[in-house]
Amino acid sequence: MKRIGMLTSGGDCQALNTAMRGVAKTLFNAKEQVEIYGFLNGYQGLIYGKFRLLTGADFAGILTKGGTFLGSSRTPFKTIREPGEDGIDKVAAMKQTYYKLQLDCLVILGGNGTHKTANLLREEGLNIVTLPKTIDNDLWGTDMTFGFQSAVNVATDCIDCIHTTAASHGRVFIVEVMGHKAGWLTLNAGMAGGADIILIPEIPYDIDKVAKKIKQRHETGSRFTILAVAEGAISKEDAALSKKEYKKKLANRKYPSVSYELAAQLQEKCGYDVRVTVPGHTQRGGSPCPYDRVFASRLGSEAAELILKGEYGFMVGYKNREIVKVPLEDVAGKLKMVDPNASIVKEAKLLGISFGD
Ligand code: F6P
Repeated sequence: MKRIGMLTSGGDCQALNTAMRGVAKTLFNAKEQVEIYGFLNGYQGLIYGKFRLLTGADFAGILTKGGTFLGSSRTPFKTIREPGEDGIDKVAAMKQTYYKLQLDCLVILGGNGTHKTANLLREEGLNIVTLPKTIDNDLWGTDMTFGFQSAVNVATDCIDCIHTTAASHGRVFIVEVMGHKAGWLTLNAGMAGGADIILIPEIPYDIDKVAKKIKQRHETGSRFTILAVAEGAISKEDAALSKKEYKKKLANRKYPSVSYELAAQLQEKCGYDVRVTVPGHTQRGGSPCPYDRVFASRLGSEAAELILKGEYGFMVGYKNREIVKVPLEDVAGKLKMVDPNASIVKEAKLLGISFGD
């Protein structure tokens, strides 16, 4: 008999339910008897002992449902060792819940912050297996995270819709894409949506080059320009600042985000009508796309296999088209960023896309 705990932590994304179903179906199909305890709202459920014993019915009909039926929350890693407002020692409380329930393993679905805490729990002696979720695709140790392809679809749909209205009115449109500090989502949605300019954090932009590209297009007969701009996009000037200086500058920025600042600058430099569209959290919502359904199911199933074999301390990831197990200590605390010299960037440039560099 195996007793498994399961939780989803951090920002949600599509295919969390799919992945949990993949784990559960494989475990329930195994010869060994298995009990699965679902912790509610991420690590909070583990800290405060909020859980429920899950049955096959909990995992039925959720393959295609976005969100997470367990709920999620952010429990910042940087304060994990500090007592909460209620004075609770979070790490001790999580361990206590684990041992009280006599768990054999915790399955944790999450992104970067979640993996730091997962690795800490592993160091504290708990058996952990994790699954890589995030629309940002910035998790080290895996070429792909689930949620990413679904978010690319949503952001691409947004750019497609903007295309037609931008063409009608001959406008410059900025579509601001999520992705935190990484440009994966913007790069892929931008290319898929035929953006003329793609600005990502990994390639700081020069505002004059961005303006020049727009003017060039309009002077050579194009009536409109589409920019896919990552929420973390940064100018060359700002990239040269120290972290502290940049933080201070951001705190005093009079615009709600980089896109609005860019819009004001470009309107002034080019004189064209500039509009901003921010799809925001729609990029994390809705049903997982077919790719993510298959991908998350496969990862979930492989995670269950590890558990059944008693192999703990790994994230189940994807490298060079193979499902792999990556030691948690290698994953925690590292980001996977777009390489400015990657072939996809070169190819985008060959297609005529400007990165403003
Ligand atoms: O990490 C996923 C993500 O959607 C990022 O792309 C974005 O920066 C962030 O979460 C938004 O966080 P919140 O849901 O807390 O506003």
